[in-house]
Amino acid sequence: MYCKKKGEYNASVSAYFFPLLEEHGIPTHFIRMTDPSTMIVRKLTMIPLEVIVRNRAAGSIVKRYPFEEGAILDPPVIVIDYKDDSRHDPMLNDDLILALHLVTRSELRRIKEMAIAINALLVRFFDSIGITLVDFKIEFGKAGESLYLGDEISMDSMRLWDMTTGESLDKDVYRFDKGDVMEAYERVAKRIQATVKGGGQ
Ligand code: CDP
Repeated sequence: MYCKKKGEYNASVSAYFFPLLEEHGIPTHFIRMTDPSTMIVRKLTMIPLEVIVRNRAAGSIVKRYPFEEGAILDPPVIVIDYKDDSRHDPMLNDDLILALHLVTRSELRRIKEMAIAINALLVRFFDSIGITLVDFKIEFGKAGESLYLGDEISMDSMRLWDMTTGESLDKDVYRFDKGDVMEAYERVAKRIQATVKGGGQ
């Protein structure tokens, strides 16, 4: 179902995080918003990798490996999948990524460093608003020789749990029929907005 508000909540969250990450030295494709659902971005050649950072075990790794749902992963686990729907986004390792010539060795190192730095910033922020960042997926692209964070950082690409109630505040609400997805997305967007009004981080 097309829902303008859901897109606006996701866009507002992305529009909050991209500049925050830029301030902390992560280059992103974000330029500006022209309206609540339209983002102007730098044109990138996207790298077909889905970089997933996990702080807690949930979703596919609980299905595939003997983790308890919610188990703390310390240090965080980075999993990189090949973005190819026809192959069901298979998980890669460093050797496969290099053999497929998806990135160079130094680009791969930089992508992992950025993923760890982004995770640290996002965990600290979500902690401050009472939300556990369980996991999230990011994508990178290139402009010339430079790497940038692209795509989005939103409730569609993160798993978020309310620290007090344990409720999901992400697309799992929709996928597992856990309640009203719009209400969950609105709660995250409003909690983030409140920090902006309150003077930011
Ligand atoms: O979400 P699912 O259980 O299918 O897969 P996962 O491997 O547990 O996903 C880990 C995280 O990456 C979750 O926050 C997903 O929302 C996100 N993800 C995504 O945004 N897009 C994908 N194609 C795959 C995962």
